[in-house]
Amino acid sequence: MTVVQRAGVCCPVPPPSRCSSACGMKPDVRDKKPNPYTLNLIPQTPYPKPQTPNNMNHKPNDYQLLDSGDGRKLERFGEFILARPCSQAVWKPSLSNAEWAAANATFDRSDGNQWHNRGNLPLEWQINVAGIEFILSGTDFGHLGIFPEQQAQWQWLQKTVGELNAKRGAPLRILNLFAYSGGSTLAAALAGAHLCHLDASKGMVQWARRNAEVNGLKDHPIRWIVDDAHKFLCREARRAVKYDAIILDPPTFGRGQNNEMYKIEQDLPETLHLCCQLLSDSPAFMLLSAHTPGYSPVVLANVLSQSMAKHKGTTSAGEMLLTGDPSVLPTPCGVYARWISGL
Ligand SMILES: C[S@@+](CC[C@H](N)C(=O)[O-])C[C@H]1O[C@@H](n2cnc3c(N)ncnc32)[C@H](O)[C@@H]1O
Repeated sequence: MTVVQRAGVCCPVPPPSRCSSACGMKPDVRDKKPNPYTLNLIPQTPYPKPQTPNNMNHKPNDYQLLDSGDGRKLERFGEFILARPCSQAVWKPSLSNAEWAAANATFDRSDGNQWHNRGNLPLEWQINVAGIEFILSGTDFGHLGIFPEQQAQWQWLQKTVGELNAKRGAPLRILNLFAYSGGSTLAAALAGAHLCHLDASKGMVQWARRNAEVNGLKDHPIRWIVDDAHKFLCREARRAVKYDAIILDPPTFGRGQNNEMYKIEQDLPETLHLCCQLLSDSPAFMLLSAHTPGYSPVVLANVLSQSMAKHKGTTSAGEMLLTGDPSVLPTPCGVYARWISGL
């Protein structure tokens, strides 16, 4: 684990645009009869086994959920343990007060956005999750530069992109929108895809580029774009640029590069419509995720399968979870839907 010591600065790059990571997910359900959109929901057992990432580089996974409850989560990121808010953890914690108090640093929203003992954290440190290296830093918003609940998506991307590249005999061209610090970009790039990575925050794109470097992907074909998602999608459509697959993790509420407002509840259908215009004639997949309260897996599956109705394929959906040892209650943290070509 690489560590850069803190020198009184709070964040190496500007924090990301405002986005909500709170969620209130409903339990997943299984529909035995395929619906018109061939919806195929993945059932989640109440206590799924933690995933042991099939790391491409066989490094140990440096992320672990240690406990959650009373509206908080206790997580290990490499050698640092953090306690942060987690509104959906409405159950009781399993660990003792003393074990929670041993966290290296705590982030709290009860009294404004506040870190306690942030000085115990280095300015930056580096961890490996799902075979991907991430540079972490405690931002003023309590984010660290990683959403570990995306781990299963990153594993799925590495496997799926690797298989599709081999089948097609050419690298997939993938667009990653609202791409944050680049977890999905890096997962797909490590599996050999060519990427276009977009985020409205210049600081986040810089952060993602640094993540690419520490993964040995400095010279990999990745286009780095700082722009508003809709503006960029319209521009790409005018230029008739095509992609084989699109990944998107739209925020509940966000701001574009020139302060354009993004609201998932009003903008998501348009985002998907614009995305579909950029897909090649035989698209490979679409991966949509969200952290929006009230958005269940079925909500995402419905909106995605409707958008992809003219292509032959199947949609699956589920909850994104933070996980640890088998004794630790998994903690829901968002939802995903995947459309994959049936060709
Ligand atoms: C939920 S985060 C994405 C998390 C990331 N996909 C992950 O799981 O690691 C949302 C991202 O969208 C970006 N964003 C917000 N509004 C935007 C807009 N209008 N256009 C482009 N990006 C935007 C934010 O800067 C932020 O990085």
